[in-house]
Amino acid sequence: TVTTDYFFDEKAFDKQDGAYIPLRVADAPEKPLNVPPLLKPDKETKDDVYYTVTAQAGETQILPGAKTKTWGYNNSILGKTIVYPAGKHIHVTLQNHLPELTTFHWHGLLVTGPYVDGGCHAPVYPGEAKQIDFTLNQPAATTWLHAHPCPSTAEQVWHGLATMVLVTDKHSSELNIPNNYGVDDIPVVLQDRIFHENNQLDYHADYNPDGVTGPTAMINGTVNPYFDVTTQKLRLRLLDGANRREWRLHLSDDLQFTQIAGDESLLPHPIKMTHLMITCAERQEIVIDFEGYHEGDEVTLFSDDTPLLKFRIHKFAKDDSVIPEDLFTVKAPTVDPQTPVRKVVMSGMDEGVEIDGKKFQIQRIDATQPVGKAQYWDIVNSNDPKQGMVHPFHMHGTEFLVISRNGHEPYPNEHGFKDTVGVNPGETVRILVRFDLPGLYMYHCHILEHEDGGMMAQIQAYEPDKPMPKYKLMDMETL
Ligand code: C2O
Ligand code: CU
Repeated sequence: TVTTDYFFDEKAFDKQDGAYIPLRVADAPEKPLNVPPLLKPDKETKDDVYYTVTAQAGETQILPGAKTKTWGYNNSILGKTIVYPAGKHIHVTLQNHLPELTTFHWHGLLVTGPYVDGGCHAPVYPGEAKQIDFTLNQPAATTWLHAHPCPSTAEQVWHGLATMVLVTDKHSSELNIPNNYGVDDIPVVLQDRIFHENNQLDYHADYNPDGVTGPTAMINGTVNPYFDVTTQKLRLRLLDGANRREWRLHLSDDLQFTQIAGDESLLPHPIKMTHLMITCAERQEIVIDFEGYHEGDEVTLFSDDTPLLKFRIHKFAKDDSVIPEDLFTVKAPTVDPQTPVRKVVMSGMDEGVEIDGKKFQIQRIDATQPVGKAQYWDIVNSNDPKQGMVHPFHMHGTEFLVISRNGHEPYPNEHGFKDTVGVNPGETVRILVRFDLPGLYMYHCHILEHEDGGMMAQIQAYEPDKPMPKYKLMDMETL
């Protein structure tokens, strides 16, 4: 069967919201898609690998004319792509060369919070460098790094602080799926921007409490990009890195593609589809097969009716390989029947957004859960189904499974591990959550202006047989 539906309730699409700015094609020439280089380790031994990640300001030629002032990691915008092999001891030096405080949040990495995880409580001040180290025990996945200082996550990401982080493992590298980075396996970071006079960004002028959007699609920092296809199969690692925009993706000719992975793992089985919706912070990996196309042909990736990225087909060798039917085995944690279901309510819009009737408070711990004990969480979006928004619910420090949507089966592409799930207005999504590492973790809506606006809370995952650790929490006053 081929999935030809976006699944989401059409009324919840962002175009229904008054503040929504539709996409339109920028008046700029087509340019080759920026494929960020891989970040080179400072040093690598058999068991250890060392990196330096620097948040820096720079200028980027995005549009013809003046360069745009942007921020990035080891780059003027976005960053270099970081590769973390699971099982290795990873050491990272975090440097802040920006004029203000930032944090380095590893969205999707299973590392301890609140410091290594890099949420609000892990500031790196201008001119400062910090060291972190960790070993990943998680399956191969496309994750990402972004700034997470509260409450200016949205503004810093808008300036460019986001980059892809690929977790690799033996299982996925041995599968017969494209994995030649930059050739048949490419990052596709979906963002939108508004450019003002002299091609500059002006976050405050464009501020909207329901999320800043712009008319210009920017893919990996490129406007009007094309990619030169030289292989029959091409893997796209799609990341919705926008502050608030959802993307409804499809290809020209209604070309069918295959989804192989979601946020935190491969899918158990590949899913054939023609339409794919991605909400903020989600990752979806797809493989496009250009069999039947020839040198000189062009295939276009659209969101709604707006072209985002063109694939220029060149000569390629015939590729008869078949994506394996069994990609990944999900080991679902078992839930003790005594354990109650935790309910989390995302409510409101604009400045009124809340979680469980409260705004985020940086020094308040909202919940606790023992490490190693799985629990069902019911995530409720209490917005009016007719005019509410999809709130993408994200958790730090865990990979969860989507169990049901309003009591029904989750979507066919939600059967792998995830860390972000779009919750439709009026909907309850049941997820299965287990923390394996003790720490303090945030959970929030990933519309970045909702997160900064207080639709966020924090949970302490604790080891039941040990004294509760006390964490040094950031103080809003000292920001
Ligand atoms: Cu991607 Cu708390 O964030
Ligand atoms: Cu939200």
